[in-house]
Amino acid sequence: MITAVVYSESGGTYKTTMTANLAVALERMGLNTLVLDLDPQEGNLTSLFDVGEHRNDPDADNLVKHILDMPDGDFQELIETTAEGVDIVPSHDMLGDFTSNLEQKIAYETGMQNISREEYPRFELLYELLWNKQKLQEKYDAVLIDPNARAEDLLYNAIYALRTLVAPVKPAGKGNLSLEGLEELVGNMESQLDIEIGLSCVVPSGVGQTNAHQQYQQQFENTDAFATPVTIGNRESLMDAMWEARGSAFKVVEERWKTYEKDGEMVSESGQRRIRNREIETLRKLYELAWFIATDTFDAKVDPVLELDIQDYETRTINLRDDEATEATTI
Ligand SMILES: Nc1ncnc2c1ncn2[C@@H]1O[C@H](COP(=O)(O)OP(=O)(O)O)[C@@H](O)[C@H]1O
Ligand SMILES: [Mg+2]
Repeated sequence: MITAVVYSESGGTYKTTMTANLAVALERMGLNTLVLDLDPQEGNLTSLFDVGEHRNDPDADNLVKHILDMPDGDFQELIETTAEGVDIVPSHDMLGDFTSNLEQKIAYETGMQNISREEYPRFELLYELLWNKQKLQEKYDAVLIDPNARAEDLLYNAIYALRTLVAPVKPAGKGNLSLEGLEELVGNMESQLDIEIGLSCVVPSGVGQTNAHQQYQQQFENTDAFATPVTIGNRESLMDAMWEARGSAFKVVEERWKTYEKDGEMVSESGQRRIRNREIETLRKLYELAWFIATDTFDAKVDPVLELDIQDYETRTINLRDDEATEATTI
């Protein structure tokens, strides 16, 4: 079972983008994959995948109700399946009020039972739901979480439940700081909850060609403190198009999504994107990252071959076991 929280302290470090691409890569490796969106804000994984129709409806059943053990329905009914085959438990507004809802529950239950507030297992609720109640380990091969960095209780629940972190970092002064913050957080969590937390890898992302960026990349690749299996370049055009394709970067390239100006208006269409080698290379790296997490961190057996079926163009086969770059079959 592969479980990972895609976490980094600062916002805008491409967490949501990374979670979507990792989930799709794992699914394409033959793993039945589920993602949980714990971020109630706009621009989350739920909007990226265009799911969660009832996320603003306060009466709708949602993940928070299940975490707090007050469900309105079946957990199974919260799960939606995206066009690329990844399952998702979408976000809901109630995630933003998680802590106050949790406090109410704790006040009520500690009043009813003979336990103190401190003894209440406030960070173990998601663990209990996913593994003991829903037994997701029997249905899925991989579970990923895109957390909300600011909601402490939810983030702690996510980390307590999944135990492993994947940390995207961005080249800026802040990138380093966030990594220090991460080590501190991991240390605090481990001692506070008496569990072990693993850092699978750090993924420098948005790395450009400038000297400063290249140095930054070197600094990460040269350290022994953690694994850095791949670096993702500055791919704004590719990653931004994910929001039009409503899916992963694999989908953007295969369906050739592009945003451009047409008769004075910006439009987004499939079938338009030029095939760029650097973008194919980025897909390979995303697949390699998923491969690293699956095989190196979790010892799973997965398919090393990525088939890209690019619309009106060609089928490309990338085999991570081959040293050869890529093999193209033009149709
Ligand atoms: N490798 C990248 N290079 C450049 N821009 C990127 C990259 N990955 C993602 N982006 C863009 O950065 C923005 C923020 O990414 P997002 O994943 O939503 O961040 P977060 O979830 O950490 O707030 C999005 O518009 C996304 O398309
Ligand atoms: Mg996000």
